[in-house]
Amino acid sequence: MPCTGVLPLTRLDSFIRRLVAQRAVLDAAVDLLEGRGGSVLEMGLGNGRSFDHLRARLPGRRIVVIERDPKPHPACMPPCPDLVVGTFEEILPRAAELLPADLVLVHADMGTGDDQRNARLADVVAQGLEGFLPEGCLVASDQALPREVYKPLPIPDGIEPGRYHLYRVTRSTAAHIMVDAST
Ligand SMILES: C[S@@+](CC[C@H](N)C(=O)[O-])C[C@H]1O[C@@H](n2cnc3c(N)ncnc32)[C@H](O)[C@@H]1O
Repeated sequence: MPCTGVLPLTRLDSFIRRLVAQRAVLDAAVDLLEGRGGSVLEMGLGNGRSFDHLRARLPGRRIVVIERDPKPHPACMPPCPDLVVGTFEEILPRAAELLPADLVLVHADMGTGDDQRNARLADVVAQGLEGFLPEGCLVASDQALPREVYKPLPIPDGIEPGRYHLYRVTRSTAAHIMVDAST
């Protein structure tokens, strides 16, 4: 009997949608970087696909990668000085020592099928990056980063809201006043 009506979303459909959203958001971020210098941070190397995409779209730009267990496709291993081996939990508290200070884009692709673990890790990452990232830095993430400092930017047309996220780091006026008052 032929299939009729609305087909259920399979895990294959969902995987493809996630990757289409990831590429669209990364390309949107690359467009926003036009004319701006600065380094990129890739959090989670995996197979190295998004690392490869970023280095192709941003030739000549430094891309530092954090990965606890680097086993990418052999053509996608970052050069040694730009690979920081360790967990996000270990590295982020040492960000000032281990990561470039001139970041203009962070890509965090860290999710698994475990929603609770994803939410916990997103919180650790959001908090760990918050004090380190310069104002104006873009953050593309597979997980929502629900903190005030991450201002959501529009997602490219055709991408389902919530599939992938794009933020710009903003500091509230109040935070600046507090910093100014203490100096
Ligand atoms: C979904 S994969 C990234 C896929 C990659 N974007 C690609 O295109 O191939 C997630 C990666 O994040 C790494 N990862 C997950 N949690 C981590 C953590 N807490 N610290 C460091 N790396 C982590 C995993 O080892 C895995 O390689």
